[in-house]
Amino acid sequence: MKTATQNLENDHVYILRLIDVMEKMVINCETNTSHMELVVSLIQHYADGFHHAKEENLLFPLLVQKGFSNEQGPVSVMLHDHAEGRNFVKKLSNGISLFKAGNVSALPEIYHNMQGYIDLLRAHIGKENNVLFRMADKALNEAEQEELLNKFAKVEIANYTNGQIQKFITDIEGLEVIYNEHN
Ligand SMILES: [Fe+2]
Ligand SMILES: [Fe+2]
Repeated sequence: MKTATQNLENDHVYILRLIDVMEKMVINCETNTSHMELVVSLIQHYADGFHHAKEENLLFPLLVQKGFSNEQGPVSVMLHDHAEGRNFVKKLSNGISLFKAGNVSALPEIYHNMQGYIDLLRAHIGKENNVLFRMADKALNEAEQEELLNKFAKVEIANYTNGQIQKFITDIEGLEVIYNEHN
């Protein structure tokens, strides 16, 4: 049976695939703003809204209950990474708006913030998969993992339809077709 940490690792697979697309955009010096806006929307609604919410609202508080510190150590590092990621995305989104308004000098800033997000999230997901989630697996027993997984499912059902979740995936796959196969 799938555990709560495995559920989060499965989200990471799609987030990493989106990040690979972003890297292609940076390498290609992409100027298609609708593709850029789709990437921002997927980060905001899938990586952050869907995935980080499960971590911040459910997993991390449970780990704090189990004795992990909120102020230092792995949970606080993960929260700090999430905040830093939101900063990159805010600046990326502002850059796209400026570029759409005709400001060509916003492009380097767009690529800079995309690359910042790419590097941050790859390192962040590595830390979660290799360190924090393995610590969580040791700290949580089978029943606690199952309860957490059920809470994830409740949050997902309350906030997203199956169609919305499926659309995140098909949107990422659609971008992969454009950026990974033809470049
Ligand atoms: Fe995270
Ligand atoms: Fe994560």
